[in-house]
Order: sequence, then C-alpha cells, then structure tokens
Amino acid sequence: MVHDVVREGRLSGIRSGEVAAFLSSRDADRWIAEADVQVDIAHLLMLHRQGIIEQEPAAAVMEVLLRFSVEGVPDEAFDEQFEDIHAGIESLLIAEVGIEQGGRLHIGRSRNDEVATCLRLRLCEELLKIGDAVNGLCEVLVSLAEEHTHSVMPGFTHLQHAQPTTLAHHLLSYAQAFNRDLERLLSTYQRVNRSPLGAAAFASTGYPIDREFTATMLGFSGVLENSMDAVSTRDFALEALADCAILMVNASRFCEELILWSSSLVRFVQLDDAYCSTSSIMPQKKNPDTLEIMRARAGSVIGASTAALSIVKALPMSYNRDLQQLTPHLWQGVGDAGASIRILAGALSTATFNTERMEAEAGRGFSTATELADMLVRECGLPFRTAHHIVGRAVRSGSLTLASLQKAATSESIDLSSLGLTEEQVRAALDPVHGIEARSVIGGPAVSAVSNAIDTLHQAIRAGRTAIATERYQRTTAITTLINEARRLKTYHQ
Ligand code: ARG
Repeated sequence: MVHDVVREGRLSGIRSGEVAAFLSSRDADRWIAEADVQVDIAHLLMLHRQGIIEQEPAAAVMEVLLRFSVEGVPDEAFDEQFEDIHAGIESLLIAEVGIEQGGRLHIGRSRNDEVATCLRLRLCEELLKIGDAVNGLCEVLVSLAEEHTHSVMPGFTHLQHAQPTTLAHHLLSYAQAFNRDLERLLSTYQRVNRSPLGAAAFASTGYPIDREFTATMLGFSGVLENSMDAVSTRDFALEALADCAILMVNASRFCEELILWSSSLVRFVQLDDAYCSTSSIMPQKKNPDTLEIMRARAGSVIGASTAALSIVKALPMSYNRDLQQLTPHLWQGVGDAGASIRILAGALSTATFNTERMEAEAGRGFSTATELADMLVRECGLPFRTAHHIVGRAVRSGSLTLASLQKAATSESIDLSSLGLTEEQVRAALDPVHGIEARSVIGGPAVSAVSNAIDTLHQAIRAGRTAIATERYQRTTAITTLINEARRLKTYHQ
C-alpha cells in the first residue's frame, strides 16, 4: 500500500482511524482533485522552463500527471491516511516513478499555495455555473412577464391588498433582483480569478520561479501579489458565499410567495406535479415541497456563509489549518445555490398562473384608494394630504362612491360637487386598470413602462451570457494550452 510521503520524515507513529479521519479533507477535496492535477502540471512546466528541474524527471512526472488528468485521479489518492488530496497525489506519483524523480515536483511550493490555487480554480468554474443558472431564471421570468403585461393582480404591502399591479410587474421585480445577483457573482469572479501559486508556505521561495507564467497557464487574470496574503486569505470564498446567501434570500422570498399563492386560500398559481409531493395519510394533498426545501436551503447557505466568516475571524497571519475547515462550507454553499436556482427556473416555467383569480382580487380591500386620492388632487386641486383624509374617511364608512366621498369631504369642510367632481371620474379611478396605466413612470406597472423594463432586462441577460461565455472561453483555452504543453514535455520521455 502507498504511504503518506509528507508525514514520514518529521513524525512517527500511525495515527488512529479517528484522528486521521478528523484531520483529513478528502471528502471536500473531491471538488478540487481535477484542479490539483492542473496546478501540478502548470507548476511542473514552470519548474522545467525555469531550468529548476531537468528534462528527464519532468517528463517522467508529467506522464503520470497527464494520465491522472485524462483518466481521473485514482481513488487510492483519497485514502484517509493522507491528510488531503495534495499529499495523496504526490504519494501516488512517488510510488510510481520513484522519489529521485517524483520527489522534485514539490520544489518551490507548499500545500498552502497549492490548495488556495485549487480552490480558486474550481470556484471560478462554479461561479460561472451559478451565473448561467441565474441568467436562465431571469429568462423564464422575463418571458412570463411578456405573456402577462395585461394580467392584473393585487400588489401587497404588509401582506394586505395595497394597489393593483400586473403579474408582469411583479415577476420583473424578481428578475431585476436576480440580475443584481448575477452582477455581484461576476464582480466576485474578478477577485477570485487570481493566482496564489508561488507564495509557497507564505514567504514565497528562493528558487527563480515564474508566478506570472503559472497564473497565465491556469487561466487566471494575474497573480495575487503578497505571498502572505495569498496563502492565508479566504475573503474570495467569503465573498462568493455572501453572494450565494443574498441570491438564496432573494430566491426564498419568491418561494414563500409561490407557496402562499398555491394555497387554496389564494389560488393564484398551480405548480406542476413534478415539483410537488403528497401526504402519506391525506390522499387529497398536493404540497409545494420543492419550494419549501428551497426556502430552507436559503437558511443552509446563510449558515455556510456564517460558518466561513466565523472560521476566518481573528485568525493570525498566515496559514492556519482552520482554513481547511472552511472549504466544505464553500462547496455546500455554491452547490445549494446553483441547484436551487436551476430548480426554481423549472418550477416557474411549468407553473400555471390563475389570472382570473388574480384579477378578481386586484380591486379588493379598497386597493384603488390611492388612485382615488390622486384623482382628487388632479381634478379638484386638493392637497394630497386632504385627499388622503377624505378617501380614508370614506373607506372607514365602508364604501367608495361619489356620495361617500362627498360626505367624507364635508367633514373636512370641502364641497366636492362645487369642485366639479363627477360620477364618471370616480368610476374611472376605481378601475384597477386605470390606476395601473396611470403609473407609467420608469419602473412602474403600466404596459409601456413594463415593456421598457423587459427590453432592458433582455439586454442585461445578453450581456451576462456574453460575459460568462468570454470568461469560460478564456479558461478552456488556457487549460487546452496547458495540456498541449504538458504533452510536448512528456514526449521527451518515450
Ligand atoms: N488540506 C489543507 C487545506 O485545505 C492544505 C494543507 C496545508 N496543510 C498544512 N499543514 N499546512 O487547507
């Protein structure tokens, strides 16, 4: 059996299963095994290019690394005796080509810069994947909005009927929030996309390494300069987790509404059966379980973000093993966020909206009262506060009619009939559609404003798609070049 080459010199004694398992990061390391091979390859190419390692050992090690990159890292590397995948891969390498050659790969680096580089590589990919999911969700929202610019519904504040709006306007409120989530993720990406490689344990190295070369070969936009910061900071992970937490909080609000809307109390939406469960005892039940799980996942992601912040808080410079404990939270957070957003898009695109029910509720609860007060200001020249008092009194009397308004106005010492108020004006103001169309300012619910918002969001989605495609192309091109260079070096070894 292959043994751990890292531990051998300084330490003796076999660790018990429990301590070994306690220390090992092998489960979380499944996320970075592929990245670790790429980091090894880039480092080895650089060592050879700089004349730090000779042709023969470089080619011998490269042959094994290329095999790991094509066939995947052997399961043996995840054995619990290794503290992590870095020790696992190096041990396997040395077991295969011998220490004389394999023992040279770790020149001028440490697991500290190695793991930070792997985390950033994989996280960049994950951020782009979440970005795709968010864009997909925005597309669903915008196309539903296009269908529903005329679907009138009640808007709520304090969960009380407030003013009429449209389903399109409501959906776009989420699309806009999710688009900001995308902007945040892409901005974070720029800071994640830096290479710590070459920082070694924390003080860099005396070998004439080329940090910019490895950064470029791995597709990073540049190096993370200070070597102490490079190995010890996890702010890139904190930022990504915070983005995911905010994204999930936005998603959880939508889940909550869809759960409420699918209740028989509300009946605004019917979810597709694929996203629902039933009861083991109550045969009639159709429960929105997927959205409930997602609402709860928001809590898990907030937890991941909080755990990560707490782990980093007050850590002295530079590397501390505490940092390993942060990593599972990172993968849990980004994994939950990406899956949730993809599933939410599916639940939404297959849902059926009951626009008749929405319309029936739109004018309930005196929801047109604001438009009525606005009309009194416009038509009768009253101060808004006076109009607010008059309509408020009329609502208190239990009805909104020309007569009840006139009566309420009298209490405020105002004669509405002498100000020319007509039955027709009151009727128009009480019509939800009338109030909606009056609200045509930027971002309002009127069809014209909503159409503009739809155009703007289409552009934002396109821009997001292009930004993601550009970054992804840049990454895959770099990795293709990396592998080609590695193959070139390996051929010397045939
Ligand atoms: N697996 C570790 C991590 O995830 C890296 C190992 C560094 N170990 C060390 N003793 N310095 O952070």
